Amino acid sequence: MRDDTITTIISENKILTAMVDGHMTALVCERYGGPDVLKFAQLARPAPKRGEVLVRVMASTITSGDRRVRSMDVPYGFRTLGRLALGWRGPRNPVLGATFAGVVEAVGQRASGFAPGDAVFGISGFRMGGHAEYLCLPAKGAIAHKPADLSFEEAAALPFGGGTALSFLSRAKLQAGETILVNGASGNVGMAVVQLASDMGAVVTGVCRSSRSAQVRALGAERVIDYQQEDFTATRQRFDVVFDVACNRSVARCLQVVKPGGRLIRLLSDLPEMLGAIARPSREGRRIIVGTAEESADNLKHLASLVVQRRYRPVISRVFPFAQAIEAHRYAECAGHGESVVIKMKDDSQTADAVATGGQPANADKPG
Ligand SMILES: NC(=O)c1ccc[n+]([C@@H]2O[C@H](COP(=O)([O-])OP(=O)(O)OC[C@H]3O[C@@H](n4cnc5c(N)ncnc54)[C@H](OP(=O)(O)O)[C@@H]3O)[C@@H](O)[C@H]2O)c1
Repeated sequence: MRDDTITTIISENKILTAMVDGHMTALVCERYGGPDVLKFAQLARPAPKRGEVLVRVMASTITSGDRRVRSMDVPYGFRTLGRLALGWRGPRNPVLGATFAGVVEAVGQRASGFAPGDAVFGISGFRMGGHAEYLCLPAKGAIAHKPADLSFEEAAALPFGGGTALSFLSRAKLQAGETILVNGASGNVGMAVVQLASDMGAVVTGVCRSSRSAQVRALGAERVIDYQQEDFTATRQRFDVVFDVACNRSVARCLQVVKPGGRLIRLLSDLPEMLGAIARPSREGRRIIVGTAEESADNLKHLASLVVQRRYRPVISRVFPFAQAIEAHRYAECAGHGESVVIKMKDDSQTADAVATGGQPANADKPG
């Protein structure tokens, strides 16, 4: 990879390297570490293979997944597995960016469903690649047409939190009228769970710090527990579903607040916990759900239809121009944002400031 990279010059937040024919600007991560390991480079522009589409990326996000891959921050027991899967010293695919929104530039042979010029959004999972001007991915992958009333920045913010929330809520078969507690309700995934569960007719309790409680209520939580004042596992109430995003309490403690017959969703498990949950998926009639989110075009289409019906909206913290993508990684590293940190590929700082929603959902009204 290093041989065909050309260092890119950044000045006054503008990427100055002239586009070299057949190349593109990308943010690359060649070794694991903090935001400072990242740099801009010119890479060969990918060409769509059979069954693939080439997307000109307009926006991408920095998710907790990008932060974990960049720093190889994986739960206990997964470090060796993680390095074998992703690359030993640095990610094998050095371009991070699991989400994208953009315009189809070209389609490979036998790639159906998309045509050049289509506005799309999606999630490329561990293939990543969204932090570059172009990316290729299978037409049958997690890619869908972008709703017209959603900006590229909002569309890029849709798949990670929304897709993860949808995937696990459907595995838990959440029903209208059921009670659900969301631990980590002010995070990217947590805010999506609060919105979607509330839209499904569930009664939502969110766990977050007090400064975020108004926002979590506005998204649909009927009750909020301030984790700095109260331990949610000590509450007297029992819930049909506990959606544990923060995973800062043991499985045994969390199960104490799950009703008999209820479900506990754990988004982050170390190896012993994961094996335990697979070997004993049910304890005293309470089901434990672990694993990774399903990334599917159907989930994206469903999210898009909820957006069109004004029943769901991604929450954006801040939009950074591509030239400030390293700064955006530093910003995303700090606790307390939760919402999506978006990278906008076309360098336009003024638009970036205008689009930023200051921590409020793009549609600040309660969905529904
Ligand atoms: N299994 C999967 O497929 C999957 C998919 C997506 C994400 N994940 C994992 O899920 C986790 C959350 O992802 P995310 O994107 O939502 O991250 P995020 O946006 O960084 O949100 C994490 C949230 O946890 C909250 N939190 C921290 N300490 C807490 C505590 N003691 N009590 C309650 N809440 C607390 C944070 O609140 P403060 O701001 O107050 O600190 C923040 O709102 C990550 O570990 C990620 O790797 C797993």
